[in-house]
Amino acid sequence: MSSTVTVIVLAAGGGTRMKSKTMKVLHPVAGRSMIAHVLNAVRAVEPHQVVAVVGHQREAVGQHIQDFMPDAVLAVQEEQRGTGHAVRVAVEALEDLGDGTVIVATGDTPLLQGESLRAFAAEHEAAQRAVSVLTAVVADPFGYGRIVRDADGDVEAIVEEKDAKPAEREIAEINSGILAFDASFLVEALPRIGNDNAKGEYYLTDLVQLARDAGLTVGAHAIDDPWQTEGANDREELAILGRELNRRIVGRWMREGVTVMDPETTWIDADVELAQDVTILPGTQLLGATVVAADAVIGPDCTLKDCEIGVGARVVRTHAELAVVGQEATVGPFSYLRPGTKLGARGKIGGFVETKNADIGEGAKVPHLSYVGDAEIGEGANIGAGTIFANYDGVAKHRTTIGRHAKTASNNTFVAPVEVGDGAATGAGTVVRRDVPPGALAVSAGPQRNLPGWAQAKRPGTAQARAAEAASGDATEVTPPEEDPELG
Ligand code: UD1
Ligand code: CA
Repeated sequence: MSSTVTVIVLAAGGGTRMKSKTMKVLHPVAGRSMIAHVLNAVRAVEPHQVVAVVGHQREAVGQHIQDFMPDAVLAVQEEQRGTGHAVRVAVEALEDLGDGTVIVATGDTPLLQGESLRAFAAEHEAAQRAVSVLTAVVADPFGYGRIVRDADGDVEAIVEEKDAKPAEREIAEINSGILAFDASFLVEALPRIGNDNAKGEYYLTDLVQLARDAGLTVGAHAIDDPWQTEGANDREELAILGRELNRRIVGRWMREGVTVMDPETTWIDADVELAQDVTILPGTQLLGATVVAADAVIGPDCTLKDCEIGVGARVVRTHAELAVVGQEATVGPFSYLRPGTKLGARGKIGGFVETKNADIGEGAKVPHLSYVGDAEIGEGANIGAGTIFANYDGVAKHRTTIGRHAKTASNNTFVAPVEVGDGAATGAGTVVRRDVPPGALAVSAGPQRNLPGWAQAKRPGTAQARAAEAASGDATEVTPPEEDPELG
């Protein structure tokens, strides 16, 4: 872009139709707020400065804008008196607009692409216009400002819905809300906008007429892809835009070499990164800053948020957040990986396993029905089915360390803090309360005692007793036990 470009983003309105405690522009689509999508597109024009006009919930909206774009200037519009007034507030918040271009956009158009904004600004500058309007031809123009053209096709005015004559209401070309101005004209003409209209507001769109009256050039350009300027005013529109944006994101990844078996049930957030030859199976959501490396297969039915999945990993029916899965590791089905889970290369987290703050080494396996919290499991170790890492003593959390190539048996409880040494083992049902030295076998259950004839004596007449009698072959030889240590 040749001259200096200032972008003004309007976001002061209440967005009441969302019926939400959250401001409209903060509602997320594809993992980002609507306004963050707009600001992201705005970056493409390499603006000299960006001003966001905030009003309703200015703290929340302003903070969010500055988190996303730290050098954005905030202009506060105390009362929403119209788009013309909002732009005036923005201009007053700046030291100097210079003689460049000012682009006005709204904060609720999440599909807007930087490239479209860039092309629009370039065309505006090349034609040396006072005002350019990005328009769209839509099936249902209700509610929008209509583009009134004269016999030569030049733009004469923008007429708002409430001010439009019946014939003007028939016009299908609408103001997208994205306009470009020559900065000097804007500064000079803004104070001349009046509010003598159906809404009693200061309409930014009146600048079209004012430029025409001054004999300046006004142009309008219809965008080929009207989705990009479509705003969401309520939750239904939000969902429609969300689905379309997702369709585009999924389509882009397929063109980049990702196999998506069912695009309809695959949801990918805007910031997700996928490598070539990733395969995504139906019912999968890849959210936040998730990154998936080449040849990994994800799904069916996975939700991965802010996860890092290694080359060739396999993740099936899993819910994971802030987890790292190593190269060729396998996860699922029915696994729950909570923040701080790190699974090494070729490791395994199997069915009905929950993990949290767990560093599971290369080739280590937690195959079945376990809870692994606050733990470090060394490379090549194997954790038996049904193991609980008892990390919480009711007051504080403690860590468990399992050594390299240790083999722990089924149904163990590791009462943290505790350490199992390298190459150590445990017996089934062991409650590990004390450290196990390297190479040792830990057993905590007492020797097994069998009390003969217990079922026949204590459960006479039941199917259990009859089965026992039939198996022992002699029902008379029953000695009732004195006590019942197992069940008593
Ligand atoms: C506006 C346009 C209309 C266009 C439509 C596209 C005007 C007069 N009308 O109408 O031609 O077709 O957008 O969506 O410009 N805002 C403020 N402060 C205000 C008023 C509005 O920040 O005082 C913000 C709103 O938060 C919103 C945007 O400006 O993001 C548009 O305002 P809105 O009231 O929705 O204008 P429309 O009536 O939709
Ligand atoms: Ca609107």
